[in-house]
Amino acid sequence: MPRDPRYDTLFQPLKIGPVITRNRFYQVPHCTGMGWARPRTVAEMRSVKAQGGWGVVCTEYCSIHPASDDQLHISASLWDDGDIRSHRLMTDKVHEHGALAGLELWFGGSHSANLATRLVSMDVASRPNGVGHPFQSRAMDKSDIRDFRRWHRNAALRAKAAGFDIVYVYATHGYLLANFLNPETNTRSDEYGGNLENRTRLVREVIEETKEAIGGHCAVAVRFAADEAIGEEGCPIIGERREMFAMMAEMPDLWDINIADYSLEMGPSRFIKEGALEPYMKWVRSVTTKPVVTVGRFTSPDTMVRMLKSGVTDLIGAARPSIADPYLPNKIAEGRLEDIRECIGCNVCYSDNSLSVPIRCTQNPTMGEEWRRGWHPEKIAERGSDSLVLVVGAGPAGLEAARTAGARGYRVALAEAGRVLGGRVAREASLPGLSEYIRVRDYRVQQLHKMPNVDVYLDSRLTAQDVMDFGADHVVIATGARWRRDLYDGKRFSPIADDKTTVLTPDDIMDGRLPVGPAVIFDADGYYMGGVLAERLQKGGLAVTLVTPADRVSPWAMNTGEGWRVPSHLMGLGVELIAAHGLKWFDGASVTLACQHSGRERALPATGLVVVGQRAPVDDLFHALHNQGEAAGVLPFTLARIGDCEAPAIIAAATYAGHRYAQDLDRAVDIDLPMQHEKIDVGAMLPTQ
Ligand SMILES: Cc1cc2nc3c(=O)[nH]c(=O)nc-3n(C[C@H](O)[C@H](O)[C@H](O)COP(=O)(O)O)c2cc1C
Ligand code: SF4
Repeated sequence: MPRDPRYDTLFQPLKIGPVITRNRFYQVPHCTGMGWARPRTVAEMRSVKAQGGWGVVCTEYCSIHPASDDQLHISASLWDDGDIRSHRLMTDKVHEHGALAGLELWFGGSHSANLATRLVSMDVASRPNGVGHPFQSRAMDKSDIRDFRRWHRNAALRAKAAGFDIVYVYATHGYLLANFLNPETNTRSDEYGGNLENRTRLVREVIEETKEAIGGHCAVAVRFAADEAIGEEGCPIIGERREMFAMMAEMPDLWDINIADYSLEMGPSRFIKEGALEPYMKWVRSVTTKPVVTVGRFTSPDTMVRMLKSGVTDLIGAARPSIADPYLPNKIAEGRLEDIRECIGCNVCYSDNSLSVPIRCTQNPTMGEEWRRGWHPEKIAERGSDSLVLVVGAGPAGLEAARTAGARGYRVALAEAGRVLGGRVAREASLPGLSEYIRVRDYRVQQLHKMPNVDVYLDSRLTAQDVMDFGADHVVIATGARWRRDLYDGKRFSPIADDKTTVLTPDDIMDGRLPVGPAVIFDADGYYMGGVLAERLQKGGLAVTLVTPADRVSPWAMNTGEGWRVPSHLMGLGVELIAAHGLKWFDGASVTLACQHSGRERALPATGLVVVGQRAPVDDLFHALHNQGEAAGVLPFTLARIGDCEAPAIIAAATYAGHRYAQDLDRAVDIDLPMQHEKIDVGAMLPTQ
């Protein structure tokens, strides 16, 4: 299909200082958990985005010097010539596919405890570490400032040597330069503190020095927050930011604008929708003649066009939309909007940064596997045989297995027991805040509709005999999992009520079976489900107490950034929160809780209990078939189980499992060494005996 002319504006080139981007699609800096440790992995991942049509592809935050070390998080670094060579892998690939490469120079200040390098961190003042390590920074004196400026300049020169086209001065997100700008953190009384001119001095010096060092060749971008403080959602507190911006408005070649509240800027879809920064951006473009980029989890080309035409921004900045669909620009260019794999806003990609592992994505299972497994989001090897593949269960794992096997050209039959496709995503998307999760299903169903080689059967609960009779060459069971009514106590599962007392699970709530009277939700899972159900019941008119054995509610959701908002959101709704308490027993009239630290017990009146604990795989069909195979010696098909039916986990693990299954069909996979391992290879041969 040709491109819809409505979207032409998205494909106009734009001059950014000395360089020109081919279009308005700009992948803003986003970390990957790969950084300095996995240069090949990161280069291949960024390369795919350039192939997918992004005009600019940036790195993640990139440390300029060992005095800014964010370990255990693995960020990029540009400390020496070795780092230049690593980044070259990326810039060469990005250029090969017609995109510009951007690099975000970063100095963490008191945010970095420098746990690995053990250098004392430096900031505008002596400040406690930003993420709670018991380390404080020293206040930078004049020689420290001179050192910092030199490190920044040298890193900019290395960026140029590495082939970057755009180099950032990073003045947001609570790092060093942001702290110099901020009147609350900058308590200095020298020429770097006090009035606006003084507080902007260091940023101005760094912009000038970066331009002077590399300006003829590279564009210099500044990442800057448009508002001063975190206010009410959508109501910016601009303060002196406009004046500050005006002072520097013409200095860089590009402004990358975001906001003070990271939980909004990178907000999960549970709380934040597309284009949420628009109210903050209203004034920005009128104050500068330089191009502006901003973000907003943009997946709709209509919204993108509106952003450009209404003068909010010149470039469509995207981190998550580019992760979920590295080919988003090309799909718009080719009039293939129905093929766009829209980000669902789960922020699982961010959790990998939090957990210091390579990035993954719920929607795009190839993310992070481009080099290690050679996967590509849009290209896949043709089928290895004429086989018929039977996929049982149309949840996220089954749908992705069917889609990927279908894309490879296999004949595929997808059998779903119910009348609705989507499995857990269809059920969970009906819960408060999770509506965008349905995109996991919708994208895949949309693709399946286009595949004549895939047949979908609803209302088809298969028995082992049905499967045996079907005549498939490959059978994969993706029948999901169900929430348990008992609880894991660290060693085993134990009941928490007698048989006559009703204990509900998330499945009951999703089936519309609600508790009566005051309810306790006991959340031993720790991710989103407990909080989401609390909201569901509270909005259903029940008095709800959310109890967790952890020290805070939804602890795992801290990894996705969702947890930053969960407690205040639930408290605002009227949900009572009790942390650090285990659940001993429920008798239908009250729950007995025990403090995790003292063991002290207390009774909490409640006539309803919902246990959000662990799940049991629904694997009866798999075992029935497996046992038949054991008894007969061999089955007439290969048999596998994937997703929650194999091992319950997050949705991203399910789509990944489905994808991997179909990628590996008819492929000789060495299960002893199933993937490439990127590591420092000292090159020595060790004796084998
Ligand atoms: C996985 C992930 C990592 C990020 N890492 C960085 C980073 O290294 N530097 C930075 O300035 N912003 C980072 N961000 C913020 C993004 O640049 C962006 O401002 C934010 O995600 C909102 O854009 P989006 O809605 O298009 O995702 C990160 C965001 C994500 C999702
Ligand atoms: S992991 Fe979730 S939030 Fe991140 S890009 Fe993928 S779908 Fe979007």
